[in-house]
Formats: sequence, C-alpha cells, structure tokens
Amino acid sequence: MNQLPAAPVPASRMKVLITREQIARRVAEMGREITRDFEGQAVLLVGVLKGATIFLADLARCIELDATFDFFSVSSYADRAQPSGEVRLTKDVDTSLEDRNVILVEDILDTGLTMNYLKNVVMTHQPRSFKVAALLDKPARRIQPIEADYLGFTIPNEFVVGYGLDYAEHYRNLPDICVLPAKAYSTG
Ligand code: IMP
Repeated sequence: MNQLPAAPVPASRMKVLITREQIARRVAEMGREITRDFEGQAVLLVGVLKGATIFLADLARCIELDATFDFFSVSSYADRAQPSGEVRLTKDVDTSLEDRNVILVEDILDTGLTMNYLKNVVMTHQPRSFKVAALLDKPARRIQPIEADYLGFTIPNEFVVGYGLDYAEHYRNLPDICVLPAKAYSTG
C-alpha cells in the first residue's frame, strides 16, 4: 500500500465556496427534476468513483422513483491538480445498461474529457436514454463540448475539495465545498 502525503492545508483554513445548506437545497431540486422527467419509469444511477459517491448518495434519496446504482472508475488526476488529458477505465459497470434510463452521476465537469469518454462507453451499450447529472461545472477549462442535463452549480476556475472531491485523496469528507489555495498544489 502506498503511503499518502499529509493534507497540505488544514480544512479550517480553507475558504468555503458552497455551504452544506446550499448543496442540500440544490441536490433536492435536482432530485425533483429527475423524478418529474422520469415519472413512472426506473432509472439507473451510474456514479463515477470516488468523487461522486457522496453526491450520488444524497441525490438518490431525493429521487422518488425506482432507482438502482452502479459505478465506473476511471484513472484520474492522481495527486496533481492538472489533467493528464488521458482517461482510462479502471472499473466497468456490473449491470447491463441496455434499454435502461442511465444517469451518469459525476462530481465535477472540468475539461469534459472524463464525461465524454464515459458517454461513449455508455452509448455502446444502447441505453434507452442517457443523461448527465453533475454537481459542479467549471466551464472555463472545457476541452470537450459536453454539458450536464442536471447541474448543481457553475463555479469559477479554482480547485475545489469536499463533499466527495479530493486533493490527493484528502478532504472528501468535508461537508462544504472549499477552495484549495493554489500554493498547496502549484509546483513553481
Ligand atoms: P474532467 O475530465 O477534466 O472533466 O475531470 C473530471 C474529474 O477531474 C472529476 O471527476 C474530478 O475527479 C477531477 N477534478 C476536476 N476538477 C477538480 C477540482 O476542482 N477538484 C477536485 N477534483 C477535480
């Protein structure tokens, strides 16, 4: 097992960008939108590990439909705050996506490379429908022109942590979304 470096900044010293109350309100609204759009149908929520787990858990409880879960895992930024531009599937879903109402649940849309890659993977399985639910969107860094169908918040081009989002695996358990100061991850 690899030894993780310590968290670079104490959680108490980070600026809160989105509070837990704001998150709860918006996630409940998103759940209502999904419930309305898929009335009378079942949905399959496919989360992207690990960042989307907390969002998926909360969103699912705001969806009043027959909902099942599955998960993808992809290679990510590892412990750097810069994208490598390369996406690799490290865990596929366990269930069939064919003829299902698939909602891909992602923590944040940044360059869009991950979501675009996963969309292509899902589409090869011929789902009945395909939607994207993203908690956060950082449009300033988009490379692939992909948008969320259900979006929590649009944020500025800053590196954020908390509510599932990490830096080098730290901070996922923070209840609020906080800004990691650039000095914590910049190399120069
Ligand atoms: P994309 O492929 O560039 O859209 O990146 C998506 C993934 O990058 C997300 O699922 C996150 O794991 C990670 N990511 C992008 N921006 C941030 C951030 O500000 N904080 C934490 N993780 C991020």
